[in-house]
Amino acid sequence: MSSNTELAKNINWVGYVDWSVRDFHGYETNSGATYNSYLVKDEKTALIDTVKHFYTDNLLKNISSHTENIDYIIVNHAEPDHASGLPEVISKYPNAKIVCNKKCQNILSGYHDVSSWNFHIVKTGDVIKLGKRSLTFVETPMAHWPDSMCTYVPEEKILFSMDAFGQHFASSERFDDEVDITAVMNEAKKYYANILMLFGKPVGKALEAVSGIEIDMIAPAHGVIWRSHIDKIISAYKDWIVCKPKKKVLVIYDTMWESTKYMAQAIVDGASESGVEAKLIYVRSSGITEIATEILDASAIAFGSSTLNGEMMPMMSAAMTYIKGLRPTGKSGFAFGSYGWGRGATESIDSMLKTMNIEVLRPPLKCKWRPDDEVLEECKNAGKILAKKAKES
Ligand code: FEO
Repeated sequence: MSSNTELAKNINWVGYVDWSVRDFHGYETNSGATYNSYLVKDEKTALIDTVKHFYTDNLLKNISSHTENIDYIIVNHAEPDHASGLPEVISKYPNAKIVCNKKCQNILSGYHDVSSWNFHIVKTGDVIKLGKRSLTFVETPMAHWPDSMCTYVPEEKILFSMDAFGQHFASSERFDDEVDITAVMNEAKKYYANILMLFGKPVGKALEAVSGIEIDMIAPAHGVIWRSHIDKIISAYKDWIVCKPKKKVLVIYDTMWESTKYMAQAIVDGASESGVEAKLIYVRSSGITEIATEILDASAIAFGSSTLNGEMMPMMSAAMTYIKGLRPTGKSGFAFGSYGWGRGATESIDSMLKTMNIEVLRPPLKCKWRPDDEVLEECKNAGKILAKKAKES
């Protein structure tokens, strides 16, 4: 366990640091992850969330170094990365009350045999007195699942925010001022883009729900605890919930025999010559996690693919399906790509952009076989259209 796990007197982190995980249900966790669990000791003792079931032994060991008894197990969220350790924890502390909201109880019932669990159902504003300290509950539906909830300890001004403000970031340190804050902010952005981007409105409502309370510390369910950079992460969230664009252009492509690659390079050249940040992303060397993170604050995006079997290439299709599901807002762009004897890729991409509510800036930019100077000039000009849009944003 880390040397410094104390958030306040008798409030400790007791979770698990997963240094080796690199795939979190498809999310590329190149910096590892943590499953945060917290113990609040008073006349009564409450455990706030558990861990992924593989690591319950570590959790129980950490708990036992602080207490022999647990009166309440708060379940802020039923997703298995936080709640799959529950059955084993309940076996060890069978008298503990399971505190959660009604939606969470329903989801837990779908995952586990809860027939013997002693539920205590709460809603927004409900309070549990532990002694000198208390727990107040704030439901924050769809930040990340329907059941998502925060727990607040007003006497210490600590908000246990569940997935919100989390980062997949393994560290031996527990607090934001003990680690490289730039690295943590990058991971927080990646986390928001890949886990919460499609829930911008509910996350905005969650921010509103907690905006009236005094907060000295935000303890999320993943990553480090915010105590010195609270303003920074809240300010970033205010931008992210509206996918606030920077003057940034992306050109995302896959290619078969380099024709689409040459087009992509010409588009990015046209955009960067216009004085905006422009990034070239080859889908087969950039994972979907990174692509989603770049899209969060991009303004204008060109999506390109060679035609393969009458369709866009498979990695491009996977990336676009993933991005579509994340529902980025306020973006514009167009389709481009090369073809040979049969068409299909640019038509598919163009049609998908329309279903994604991406403003289409021009008809698909197509090239048969190899792009000649005329096509490359058209690509450059298309890059300038993206740059103009980015500047307007
Ligand atoms: Fe970290 Fe939505 O679970």
